[in-house]
Amino acid sequence: MSAVVSDDERFMAAAIRLSRRNLGLTATNPSVACLIVRDGVVVGSAVTAPGGRPHAETQALAMAGEAARGATAYVTLEPCSHHGKTPPCADALIASGVARVVVSVVDPDARVAGRGLSMLRDAGIAVETGVLEREGRAALAAYLTRQTRKRPHVTLKLAVSSDGMLGRLGAGQVAITGPVSRGQVHVLRAETDAILVGIGTALADDPDLTCRLPGLEGRSPVRIVLDPRVELPPASRLARTARDVPVIVVAALGEEADDVLATPPSGLPAISPSRGEIDGGMVSPNSGVAAVGNAGSQPISPPEGEMAGRPEGGNPAASPNDWRARAAALEALGVEVLICDPRRLGDLLSALATRGISSLLVEGGARTAQSFLDAGLVDRIMLFTGPDPIGKDGVASPCVSGQMPRGFVLRHTARYGADIFEDYERDD
Ligand SMILES: NC(=O)c1ccc[n+]([C@@H]2O[C@H](COP(=O)([O-])OP(=O)(O)OC[C@H]3O[C@@H](n4cnc5c(N)ncnc54)[C@H](OP(=O)(O)O)[C@@H]3O)[C@@H](O)[C@H]2O)c1
Repeated sequence: MSAVVSDDERFMAAAIRLSRRNLGLTATNPSVACLIVRDGVVVGSAVTAPGGRPHAETQALAMAGEAARGATAYVTLEPCSHHGKTPPCADALIASGVARVVVSVVDPDARVAGRGLSMLRDAGIAVETGVLEREGRAALAAYLTRQTRKRPHVTLKLAVSSDGMLGRLGAGQVAITGPVSRGQVHVLRAETDAILVGIGTALADDPDLTCRLPGLEGRSPVRIVLDPRVELPPASRLARTARDVPVIVVAALGEEADDVLATPPSGLPAISPSRGEIDGGMVSPNSGVAAVGNAGSQPISPPEGEMAGRPEGGNPAASPNDWRARAAALEALGVEVLICDPRRLGDLLSALATRGISSLLVEGGARTAQSFLDAGLVDRIMLFTGPDPIGKDGVASPCVSGQMPRGFVLRHTARYGADIFEDYERDD
């Protein structure tokens, strides 16, 4: 039995599909699509341009030209009503002479929030909202989360073995899933503003965290490492490629983070950062080290010629105050060292949202995944389960198929070669 699909749903589904094309490219604006349909024929279609401008509506109307008169416009998000860097799209629609506007999602931005719809109605245009709203909201999840929760939308991606493990202790990257799943993850990376891992993963796996699908190589997101003690080796792939694809190391330096720093990483002596001159400013004038929240920043003066990281990817040598040298070595490679206690994930996410990051893909490892779940900061879990066990010395996943944290509902499953994919969403 097949459901009857209205023309409005059919065209809105096409608009939503089109809107996904520029996900991850339009920060800080959402990736919105617009179709102009006249007598059942699409006469104009566009998606928000990379960089966020021009908006979809003005491009689609320009394509339609005179054919827009009397047509129906399908827009995935309510047309804007305010003068920003561009004039209101609601005005452009009115001026074009469209007879009807169909919208999937009403914009929660306080400057719009229904005003775009009112402008259209006041101009005598028939307006319909809520068409395929669930699908529209899913495509706009990053923008909607940043607008309403003031943080990026967080997707946790986990590749889990058949016995519930994420990897094997000391084994580096272990192939758990096959090429189809890995391709899906790369698509996900292309659609996301930033990827995040813990320093445990950066050290164990020495990952690239880039999108390497043919044709999408230019769409790698910003890469973020939670690295309280600035242990990322300058010889790591992440550091070495920081000038090509940005890397942010989130370090817990500053007075209030001394506890974190006093705890030695496994196998390392304690690092105790020197104090004083902490000004709480956002950017240290000498080093470029950015600070978030109350943790301050200090000028960094590296001991000449000293690079702390071990090329083979192990922990860098640590001695008191070496964090400055390590930070400077990373900065010399183009890495940004952001001072923000990585244990305070809420503060970190707010800071990332302020920078225009609307979507964040958390790619592990186990402790990082667990801490995002514990903090209630995961919106979606994408679980890829491979066919083989890891067995002895496995690193256990914080969640496995059938045992998801409370509040997550299964939206979709698929088979990718020998792997099973499950897509869970927080239900609130
Ligand atoms: N299959 C997959 O999908 C997948 C993906 C990624 C990684 N992995 C595997 O996972 C393993 C690494 O996992 P892991 O748990 O050892 O390392 P991890 O989660 O990548 O990193 C943990 C480290 O990050 C620091 N950290 C800073 N802020 C944190 C926060 N808010 N929450 C948690 N940790 C924070 C921790 O500091 P402290 O030392 O102060 O606690 C710790 O040193 C590797 O075997 C890797 O291959 C698997």
